[in-house]
Amino acid sequence: MDIEYVRSQFPALEREFTFMDNAGGSQTLRKVAERISGYLLHHNVQLGASYKVSREAGEKLNYATKKVCEYINAARPEEVVMGPSSSMLLRILSTCISKQWKEGDEVIVTNTDHEANVSPWTDLKNKGINVKLWKANPESLELELSDLNKLLTKRTKLVAVTHASNILGSINPIKEIAKTVHKAGALICVDGVAYAPHRRIDVRKLDVDFYVFSWYKTFGPHLAVMYGRYNLLHQMDGINHYFFKKKDVPYKFQPGNFNFELTYSLLGITEYFEQLFKNEFPKAKKVGFQDKMNKVFEHISKHEERISKPLINYLSEHPDIQIIGKATADRKKRVPTISFVHSTMKSDEIVERVDDYRVGIRFGDFYAKKLIEDAGLKEKNGVVRVSLVHYNSLDEVKRLIWVLKKVI
Ligand SMILES: Cc1ncc(COP(=O)(O)O)c(C=O)c1O
Repeated sequence: MDIEYVRSQFPALEREFTFMDNAGGSQTLRKVAERISGYLLHHNVQLGASYKVSREAGEKLNYATKKVCEYINAARPEEVVMGPSSSMLLRILSTCISKQWKEGDEVIVTNTDHEANVSPWTDLKNKGINVKLWKANPESLELELSDLNKLLTKRTKLVAVTHASNILGSINPIKEIAKTVHKAGALICVDGVAYAPHRRIDVRKLDVDFYVFSWYKTFGPHLAVMYGRYNLLHQMDGINHYFFKKKDVPYKFQPGNFNFELTYSLLGITEYFEQLFKNEFPKAKKVGFQDKMNKVFEHISKHEERISKPLINYLSEHPDIQIIGKATADRKKRVPTISFVHSTMKSDEIVERVDDYRVGIRFGDFYAKKLIEDAGLKEKNGVVRVSLVHYNSLDEVKRLIWVLKKVI
């Protein structure tokens, strides 16, 4: 991969600083920032009016939403709900969908998820909904389908599960999980926040009902998106004003104005990936958007595997270090979000020493508190997390290893 081209698209990377807290928030594409200012400076009017500038602004936003729809391979733009954050969208979903549920109905959450896809469901206890916990195998920290099967009943309404853990980096087999969940007559709601920056999201291929992720971790602005299957969104009550009807999808889930300039800026992300495809596969002819995205993300996953390998090797060979998650760089099994603990040093101690070398990594529970508690890592002050993305270079990873050798 032409790493120089990639890095040149992110102005923040020109600084002498190594960004390896990307699962916290990625750097923003120049194209995204330019579109935000372009929209605000030239098209910032209220939508829905009959005058020309308003009509033009509406067309721009419709185009951006259509592109997001293609980006995740949703069936129609109405399936794309915009919101300020993944946490908020999941709250909106749990509020709306639970109106259809009765006392004694059940939801299943995991102990490996970020709390964003847990609390909105566990809080439904107040409405008489029974909450069950799908716990990872304590040895492997993997979620096992056989355990899910034991929890599913006729009363299960929904299973909330993450696509990739923001601590372990492990990828859950969502397609398979969705099949099991659907067979039991329930719905699946996937948190794709830790997965989206690394791999192609194809909601139709995954056959999921709801899928949420945040653009600020996917090279864009502080905005999030929720995919919802059209018929499910259509059936549900929304949370908008009383005069919004059932058919007003997605507006009934977007009270107030959704953020116009940030939504418009998402075009900068799809354009970037299209350009990256063009650069990396110059001989490819007449390739459609879906194939381009599949190919470009496969390419990215290979780069990510290549740069995480030396770090995983170093960490697994160190006698005092334990990787929390799979000790493999295999792109089929994990994303490059790599966590570890040390036998005697606390996680904050390591990170604060690394700070002096102008490398941004991070320690903590990353709001996956249940996982940290169940894995007995609270007294370590959580894990040390190094989270890479495709703009990180092999040289940066080598430098991090050099730094870790100095501080540990
Ligand atoms: C896996 C995961 N899910 C959900 C969230 C919450 O995202 P947001 O900040 O958009 O609410 C985060 C944020 O760190 C996350 O890492």
